[in-house]
Amino acid sequence: MFKPLLLATLTAFACTGHAADIAAGKVKAQACIACHGANGLSSVGSFPSLAGQPSLFIVYQLIQFRGDQRIFAPMNALAEGMSDADMRDLGAYFASLPGPSGATGLDAAKIAAGQRIADASHCQSCHTPDLRGQKQVPRLAGQHVDYLKAQLKGLRDGTRMDIDGSMASAAQGLSDADIDALSHFAAAMKVTPEPH
Ligand code: HEC
Ligand code: HEC
Repeated sequence: MFKPLLLATLTAFACTGHAADIAAGKVKAQACIACHGANGLSSVGSFPSLAGQPSLFIVYQLIQFRGDQRIFAPMNALAEGMSDADMRDLGAYFASLPGPSGATGLDAAKIAAGQRIADASHCQSCHTPDLRGQKQVPRLAGQHVDYLKAQLKGLRDGTRMDIDGSMASAAQGLSDADIDALSHFAAAMKVTPEPH
């Protein structure tokens, strides 16, 4: 039921004024460092890096946390106090930072299997060929394996909602082994040059 409403909210949001301000976003992002790391690069496998994410993706996730469509209690509490302008500034700031470099030393067989599954499932048609993401579609390149696995399982099993259901349907039919391989493939991906 919430999906058409959420889309309507997002469309209205995208049309309102206020240019995003990277410097203001950097100040506001002090509240994020403890978990998401300095410069948006997290060192904990269950905490996502935010550096290099498309700004629109950051904004849409914060809206979903604020509206309790996506649930993680500390993020819900933080987003509750944010204005739309705060979200836009934070999005612009994190998008301006170089993203995580691809992980090295991961199991090569899993990476190769993940690439085959990604090609067959057309993950790159939305996430882009080097998985740097675009617009509301997240960057996957260099993200933590553990985080990617948990999110893919949540999207598949319906414990994480997504904006319009397109990612939930992309994850349907993936086995746990597929998800493990895909997560290795994405975590090892290098983006050259970094977009920003
Ligand atoms: C207490 C730790 C903590 C703090 C502080 C925190 N976050 Fe988070 N954040 C998380 C965790 C953990 C997740 C992943 C939740 C999940 O598993 O779904 C997350 C997810 C996110 C996501 C979604 C990323 C993705 O790839 O799906 C965004 C965007 C985000 N946080 C932005 C922020 C911003 C902006 C701030 C500062 C204003 C902030 N967070 C502060 C812990 C934190
Ligand atoms: C039709 C476009 C589309 C396709 C195809 C697609 N995705 Fe996504 N994906 C998205 C969007 C949009 C999101 C953000 C969802 C939301 O609103 O939370 C997302 C989110 C994700 C996330 C969560 C990342 C994060 O930081 O929160 C992962 C992991 C992911 N996709 C992996 C994949 C994989 C692996 C495939 C192929 C099996 C795939 N996606 C195919 C559009 C797509």
